[in-house]
Amino acid sequence: MNILFACSELYPLIKTGGLADVAYNLPAALRRQGHDIRIVLPSYSGLAEAHHKWLDYSAEVMGYPVGLLQAHLKGTDIPVYLVDCPQLFDRPGGPYGEYADQPWTDNAQRFGLFCRVSEKIALNQVGLAWHPDTVHCNDWHTGLLPLLLASHNKRPQCLFTIHNLAYQGLFDRIDFEALDLPATVDGKVLWDYQALEYYGMMSFMKAGIVFADAVNTVSVGYAKEVLSKEFGCGLEGLLRSLGEGFSGITNGIDTQLWDPSNDPMIQTIYGSHSLHRKVFNKLALLAEFQLLGHQDRLLLGIVSRLTEQKGIDLLIEALPLIMQLPVDLVVLGNGDKVLEKALLEVEKQYPMRISVKPAYDERAAHLVIAGADALLIPSRYEPCGLTQMYAQRYGTIPVAHGVGGLADTIIDIAPFSENIADSTGVLFWDFTPDALIDALQRLHFVYDNLLLWRDLQRSGMGEDFSWDISATGYSNLYQSLISQKY
Ligand code: ADP
Ligand code: GLC
Repeated sequence: MNILFACSELYPLIKTGGLADVAYNLPAALRRQGHDIRIVLPSYSGLAEAHHKWLDYSAEVMGYPVGLLQAHLKGTDIPVYLVDCPQLFDRPGGPYGEYADQPWTDNAQRFGLFCRVSEKIALNQVGLAWHPDTVHCNDWHTGLLPLLLASHNKRPQCLFTIHNLAYQGLFDRIDFEALDLPATVDGKVLWDYQALEYYGMMSFMKAGIVFADAVNTVSVGYAKEVLSKEFGCGLEGLLRSLGEGFSGITNGIDTQLWDPSNDPMIQTIYGSHSLHRKVFNKLALLAEFQLLGHQDRLLLGIVSRLTEQKGIDLLIEALPLIMQLPVDLVVLGNGDKVLEKALLEVEKQYPMRISVKPAYDERAAHLVIAGADALLIPSRYEPCGLTQMYAQRYGTIPVAHGVGGLADTIIDIAPFSENIADSTGVLFWDFTPDALIDALQRLHFVYDNLLLWRDLQRSGMGEDFSWDISATGYSNLYQSLISQKY
């Protein structure tokens, strides 16, 4: 099957979160299954210099001069087409704004143009002599692509994947008009609540959901949750109306990059039969975060974007209670400046117990996952989440709010039981400080008994989180769309 995969982030070229990891690993897994998959990504600052293979294509799109470069997905033969438009993409900072919490004001134009050029690739109009059977769009940045494709009779089938429903790509009506879209597509008036209009704004996310041939999200649990008012971000009715056309496929993880027995970014490698060596990573982590002297105490780690989604506010609220337990905490995270500041404040209050590194740092992320005893993930909601799966592979116990993909991929321990059975972590169900503390107490009960602790570690390490299962799910979904067409 020929598949065009459109995304706004791609590991290791540009990454703000798990979307970049998925955009790397899912195509790689599909390629291993024999599919001809190709990726399209905006050519952000620095990418054109690093990948200077220009394709013989230049055009004016939405009034901007545009070119195409070709790179390859690291370690594979998968082509990555970079949409070059320096006026829109060659800027300092991240893919969506100079800072994480300050989006560029012309994002509608930026991702509108990205979708227009992706449409041309999808329709074989850029001289590649390649026809995709399926176009796989990811999150709101690619939301206009299903809409643009829907206006053609002869076109590939289109899947739209929601990685996070809370980021919808909302813009003013004036931005909608500047995009110069047709008034109606496939019999639907665009400026209407049944299409792009969302409470007086234009929603790129709605464009993707309404015009794709099928929609999915990144875990089975989140696929159910978003049908409710609590998690549906105002789109629960629309998603419910899709019926069978909306499903969940739980993400996998990169089991080569995240492998404690072969990880050059950690202090000491280890496996499920040499778990005693894990402590050298704990010592290195304590030293790096300047908490030396506490190697016997339970060490909690956090590796996260700092946003409301990740429940950092719940953590801060619960900290006075957490600090009454015999635990220490290291935090690696960046994002929202208010949350960063609040964490640095609590670090000051508990100088020998809490250490915060407000940074994005791949190497440090591996060390936290390997060196902490447990990984805390208090997310308010979580479409899938990857770090809880990394943690399990490293014998680091995830302690998480039981939502979305977290509840799908962690098996909770029975409270204060001496039987670990198949459990792989600790879940708390209420989003309250008390529930979080209760989970930490249950964790500590196991930590106090080394044999039980080892059972719990090994049980998580034995889980199969490889991408192959999810890739088969996607491959079947693409196939069903193609069969529907004929
Ligand atoms: P989300 O995409 O919502 O941020 P995920 O758990 O799906 O959450 O993916 C987060 C990804 O980003 C993981 O690969 C994680 O290791 C990485 N990550 C998050 N914060 C940091 C950080 N501060 N430094 C390095 N890597 C980070
Ligand atoms: C989003 C979600 C996260 C998910 C990731 C990859 O960033 O917040 O839960 O794991 O996408 O699908």
